[in-house]
Amino acid sequence: MAISGQLHVAIIGAGLIGQTHSLMLKQIADRTEQSVRVAAVADLDGAAAAKLAERWPGAKAVSSARQILDDAAIDAVWICTPTAMHREVCIAAARAGKHIFCEKPLAMSAAEAAEMSATIRAASVISQVGLVLRFSPVYTVMKSLISDPGAGKVIAATMRDDQDFPIRGVHASGWRNDPKLTAGGTLVEHSVHDVDLFTWMFGPVRRLYCRTRNLAGALGVEDFATTDLEFESGTSAHLVSIWHQMIGRPSNRRCEIFAENLFLASDFDMDGTIMIQRGANASQETMSTADVTGRFREIVLDERPHLAPFLDTLGVAYALEDANFLAALRGDSQVYPQFDAGVRVQRLVEAAYTSARSGAPLDVNN
Ligand SMILES: NC(=O)c1ccc[n+]([C@@H]2O[C@H](COP(=O)([O-])OP(=O)(O)OC[C@H]3O[C@@H](n4cnc5c(N)ncnc54)[C@H](O)[C@@H]3O)[C@@H](O)[C@H]2O)c1
Repeated sequence: MAISGQLHVAIIGAGLIGQTHSLMLKQIADRTEQSVRVAAVADLDGAAAAKLAERWPGAKAVSSARQILDDAAIDAVWICTPTAMHREVCIAAARAGKHIFCEKPLAMSAAEAAEMSATIRAASVISQVGLVLRFSPVYTVMKSLISDPGAGKVIAATMRDDQDFPIRGVHASGWRNDPKLTAGGTLVEHSVHDVDLFTWMFGPVRRLYCRTRNLAGALGVEDFATTDLEFESGTSAHLVSIWHQMIGRPSNRRCEIFAENLFLASDFDMDGTIMIQRGANASQETMSTADVTGRFREIVLDERPHLAPFLDTLGVAYALEDANFLAALRGDSQVYPQFDAGVRVQRLVEAAYTSARSGAPLDVNN
């Protein structure tokens, strides 16, 4: 049932991404006459919960998710704990009747993710998964460029996705090198976004082949994965995922897409330029950041007009995913991406790990 009036939400897990969502919710509140309020923050680390709650006057800080789930005044929760805790918190939240925004990857395994999805369905709560690249200006525009019939069939795509091993620097966390707390390494914890992006752009996968390596020595947590994906459409994609040791290098992606009459490349995964080469004479142009932003606005206004007030927010993709979930709670929008998109991509990544263990390509059905 759609919710009216001010939405009261809670953040569970006050680390990097919990703080990011708090910032986004603040921007949304400020643009919508305080239509949403973070009313509680839970973190096992009580000081972290208190620090984040301070940003929301009157918000309570607690050290266990249970205290939030028992609070009838809370409409929805953002699950931002380390991956290993998603399942337990998500299932408890669904059973408590809370609507759920859950960060990616959904769980430690595809089976766990499917169990969470089934519990959510049984509880009839609204749910969305944090596959934020679906709101990236650069990738949304690239997707629209390849959907132009003049581009021809997409032949191939490549993605290099790299990040400092996220246990220090901007992504400092105490769990990403612990196989009991992370679903794996760079492929599932970071490139799950890329695999989802590829299926969003190219459709279902029919076959994949993955190899992983571990250079940093975190047992069971790969820091390099190379994955070939064949799509039912005939498109091939190659994904290279790296967690490196260069703390000073910001997280970075390079994506290239080759269609029959169009070549696209970008070194930016959110805001930035796109290099475009097209037509028989292969004329080359660079779409400026301003032009990418302008085209992205047109696409969003056409597909999701309810997001118009948030297009000039900081960290626009994160603000848009949060605003979309809030709009779904009010009955003004569909959730996007649906929770089950998170289940499907987790199955694909798990299939990739199976391929890596066996050393052979694997047919998949997603
Ligand atoms: N979508 C994205 O771009 C993105 C970016 C970063 C992280 N993530 C995902 O978000 C999740 C959290 O990542 P992070 O970087 O914020 O981690 P983090 O280590 O910075 O923060 C996690 C917080 O959760 C708390 N916590 C642990 N167990 C808890 C429990 N049972 N109940 C309440 N709090 C608990 C920890 O004390 C910590 O403060 C992970 O699943 C990660 O993959 C997504």
